Amino acid sequence: MTYTTILTEVRGRAGVVQIHRPEAMNALNATVMEELTQALEAFDSDSNVGAMVLTGDAKAFAAGADIKEMAEATPVEMLLADRIGRWDRLRRMRKPVVAAVSGWCLGGGNELAMACDMIVASETARFGQPEISLGVIPGAGGTQRLTRAIGKAVAMEMVLNNRTLTALEAQQLGLVNRVVPVEVYLEEAVRLADEIGSRAPLAVRLAKEAVNHAFESFLADGIADERRSFYFLFSSQDQKEGMQAFVSKRKPVWKGS
Ligand code: CAA
Repeated sequence: MTYTTILTEVRGRAGVVQIHRPEAMNALNATVMEELTQALEAFDSDSNVGAMVLTGDAKAFAAGADIKEMAEATPVEMLLADRIGRWDRLRRMRKPVVAAVSGWCLGGGNELAMACDMIVASETARFGQPEISLGVIPGAGGTQRLTRAIGKAVAMEMVLNNRTLTALEAQQLGLVNRVVPVEVYLEEAVRLADEIGSRAPLAVRLAKEAVNHAFESFLADGIADERRSFYFLFSSQDQKEGMQAFVSKRKPVWKGS
């Protein structure tokens, strides 16, 4: 597959997708979104890959949806093109996706990072939802995911008044898993994805589903779903292998079945 706005590579068990539009601060136009979704889907179906990393460059993870592409659009054009509809495909990714964020992570960029499962940030990362300054509001889940991730008070300030968060603030508020120097943020994200990607694949998949359920459902539904997945894993070879390996004091060998 030849891409024009992203780069891909496999490092260990991690499939890495890099947004590559440096001339536009990695703004997310229709081509970028289609290509990065396709690349993540390809890794999601590749048994050599256990988890993915989505990144930009040191200056910008992504400075939001492409403003130039939509500045003159009418509501009907927005509805028919339904660019944000494509984002539902990201939600269906079965393997974990780690966002490796440096520099600007704004608007749709922040929504994209939050659509991933974990965020590793460089010390230079800046998170924001500046849509209010453009006369609109976040349109790709920002108001919902941000509020669930960091709470109402600061989310209100970000969405209503364009407050940006430093990497450390984002970590303190629970938006970001860890903050590391800019020289190593990508390596750290790849290390995390490789480590998770080397674990029992079925259990990782159901664990991701279960945690996401907590985010997206009422407590009773999430708990029932988690319990079903827990019981189901006792039909897998990996559960037998994992527990027998513990008892025999050896390392498990995962089969993904
Ligand atoms: N869309 C299109 N082009 C963008 C862009 C965007 N979101 N962000 C930056 N660019 C372009 C600039 O227009 C500029 O292009 P030219 O050289 O052709 O003029 C180039 O990238 C470099 O940007 P700047 O010169 O502005 O760089 P800077 O260092 O001075 O500022 C910045 C960087 C703070 C990120 C600034 O570019 C900025 O504020 N960008 C817009 C951020 C924004 O409002 N994002 C929200 C978009 S709407 C959205 O995302 C909706 C949604 O919920 C889905």
